[in-house]
Amino acid sequence: MKKITIIGTGYVGLVSGAGLADFGNEVVCVDINKEKVSQIEDGIIPFYEPGLNELVARNVETGRLSFSTNIGESVQESEAVFIAVWTPMGNDGEADLSAVEDAGRVIGQNLTDYKVVATKSTVPIGTGEFIRSIIRENSKGRAEFDIISNPEFLREGAAVSDFMIPNRVVIGTDSERALALIKEVYRPLFINETPMVITNIQTAETIKYASNAFLAVKISYVNELANLCDENGADIHTVTRAMALDGRISSKFLHPGPGYGGSCFPKDTKALVHQAKERGVNLEVVKAAIRANEFQKSRVTEKLERLMKNDLDNKTIAVLGLAFKANTDDVRESPVIPLLTFLAEKGCNVRAYDPKANKNMAKLFPDVNYCSSIEEAVKGVDAAVVMTEWHEFRGMDLARVGELMNEKVLFDARNLLSPNELNRIGFRFENIGRSSVR
Ligand code: UGA
Repeated sequence: MKKITIIGTGYVGLVSGAGLADFGNEVVCVDINKEKVSQIEDGIIPFYEPGLNELVARNVETGRLSFSTNIGESVQESEAVFIAVWTPMGNDGEADLSAVEDAGRVIGQNLTDYKVVATKSTVPIGTGEFIRSIIRENSKGRAEFDIISNPEFLREGAAVSDFMIPNRVVIGTDSERALALIKEVYRPLFINETPMVITNIQTAETIKYASNAFLAVKISYVNELANLCDENGADIHTVTRAMALDGRISSKFLHPGPGYGGSCFPKDTKALVHQAKERGVNLEVVKAAIRANEFQKSRVTEKLERLMKNDLDNKTIAVLGLAFKANTDDVRESPVIPLLTFLAEKGCNVRAYDPKANKNMAKLFPDVNYCSSIEEAVKGVDAAVVMTEWHEFRGMDLARVGELMNEKVLFDARNLLSPNELNRIGFRFENIGRSSVR
């Protein structure tokens, strides 16, 4: 088993570090942020990810997982270094690679003997070669190294199981020596015959963007279909159920909603379009998916306004769900952000509840009244909007909720609730693509 450094302790770095330690490797997760590292050392994971606390604690206990801010020392002692730093969106949709560049510089300066440098961060196609040049420049020929592109396919909220039981591992390299080493790092996955795609660096980098953009396209398509169903009397649930029975389509990522969000799809679709444009290629389908997603977010506010008979001014509204999806506390690019902005413009009094994301949304919208339960949030409100697909919203006691509200008006932007039941209890309601179901 191998000695590994993971640079970056965000959700990719931490999940990958703990996961690789669980595979038997000796892993040090490093970060420049001292406060963050000392928090993690104290057992405090800076974000909510189911199962991660246990995975980290288990591997710290065995001594295979540790944390450090001394990146140089850790790099010197490692056989493989994984770059898992953030790549935020810069102007014009391109990815900002300054953290990747910094990581490459430190690796180069501390290249004492042969190392494999693998990139987990989502980086533009061609970044592998860029990292190679930075390391070369800073290592001044002291030792050899090889580059690998090893993109991650971790979903927030399911990242631990996605890492431990992946549906594929992608390894892009031009070196047999590096491949042999990385096979050791992922030994348990090779043994249990996880599908491995071994290819060149550019192909591996492209696979990551191609996969995320495809899923974004699928969601935007189903959102547009749902909007059509609203107008033509069809039920999107039955439409997608029937579509999914065709194995070529599959039921995954066929759920209409308020638009995709998070730290990946919005950023990666734009970055892919940007990279293609630079090479003279027009990705019309991905561009359309991005536009459709913007439209979907505005459709949420439009539908709410219509449901409220264009009388939203100064009303009290409950927003159930703030995270961009369930099982995470992440609110980055959450479709709830444009909704809260709109409600603020209308002078509404907002009562919000999310099982995990209240604190993160409060940093962006301090004036919202954050509640600790569904019941507390809906008390006395003129309408409620369900924005995130948390299980506890699916199971809510609608009769009780109706009693607590000032008016029984509800917009289910995730299609979690039964239209028949809402109707029976006397709600005036809306959903996404199921207007005909009563
Ligand atoms: C996504 C990919 O699914 C991961 O494979 C990838 O590794 C990750 O990006 C990344 O690049 O790091 P994530 O953004 O965590 O993962 O979440 P998803 O589960 O993909 O959901 C993304 C958005 O699409 C959410 O806003 C979700 O609510 C929305 N969505 C998803 C729908 O609206 N409908 C669906 O049917 C599925």
